[in-house]
Amino acid sequence: MTILASAHEIYRFFQQGGEQAPILKGLNLEVHSSEFVCVMGPSGSGKSSLLHALAGLDTVDAGSVSLAGVQLDEVSEAQRTRLRRDTIGHVFQFFNLLPNLTVLENVGVPLAIQGKQAANEKQRILDILAQLGLAGREDAFPHELSGGEMQRVSIARALVGNQPLLLCDEPTGNLSQQAGLEVMQLLRALRDDEDRSILLVTHNPRDATFADRVLFLVDGQLAADEELRGPNIAVEDVHKVLAKLHI
Ligand SMILES: Nc1ncnc2c1ncn2[C@@H]1O[C@H](COP(=O)(O)OP(=O)(O)O)[C@@H](O)[C@H]1O
Ligand SMILES: [Mg+2]
Repeated sequence: MTILASAHEIYRFFQQGGEQAPILKGLNLEVHSSEFVCVMGPSGSGKSSLLHALAGLDTVDAGSVSLAGVQLDEVSEAQRTRLRRDTIGHVFQFFNLLPNLTVLENVGVPLAIQGKQAANEKQRILDILAQLGLAGREDAFPHELSGGEMQRVSIARALVGNQPLLLCDEPTGNLSQQAGLEVMQLLRALRDDEDRSILLVTHNPRDATFADRVLFLVDGQLAADEELRGPNIAVEDVHKVLAKLHI
């Protein structure tokens, strides 16, 4: 099995009240191809920091991160950028859509960054939008969309470059119960039908039940003995581990 992303003994410190506080403390993680992994942890536990480190958007203070088998600190900035671009699609809690661009243009942004003409890829973008339940919405602007639609546009943008790994940072955090459920079902379908790999970080137990593997972020590390494995993880089991770990 191919390892798409890995963190080996990573540490991340942040300045807090005049002191360097450790947030990630020797964390290890491997995400394999065709795997849907969920990392659960409460607010402030370091979930976004972990994703930023894996995406190479942030450097780690110790340890190492690899994408597609390449250790990020052993290659040039240009190679890191290319590796990130070719390996990862990112889905954010706050969607991060550009307000002055239409749905079609927003989804085309990664292609423009890759130097491809979005016009040549229009049909492919429309196909992805249709797959995500957004047929006919291509000319809308973000402010004309519901939260659920905005998140589906941001998923489309993360898919358009065909990167194998989707990093999803609390993708249902700003959605209603129902819209969040639909986004989770969509992510699960991407894993099942298209063989995409997903790394989801969340504090939502319901969202965790969609994963193949659930890991718990406690005190800067992933609790090694408390991993849950799917398919069909019960939400009660997620709650049990959270209670046991006091998180
Ligand atoms: N760039 C930063 N500078 C200073 N502190 C930060 C920075 N990023 C995160 N932190 C701190 O690190 C901790 C973990 O943050 P974060 O990774 O965003 O957690 P989560 O995503 O689980 O809510 C928080 O206490 C936060 O304040
Ligand atoms: Mg976060």
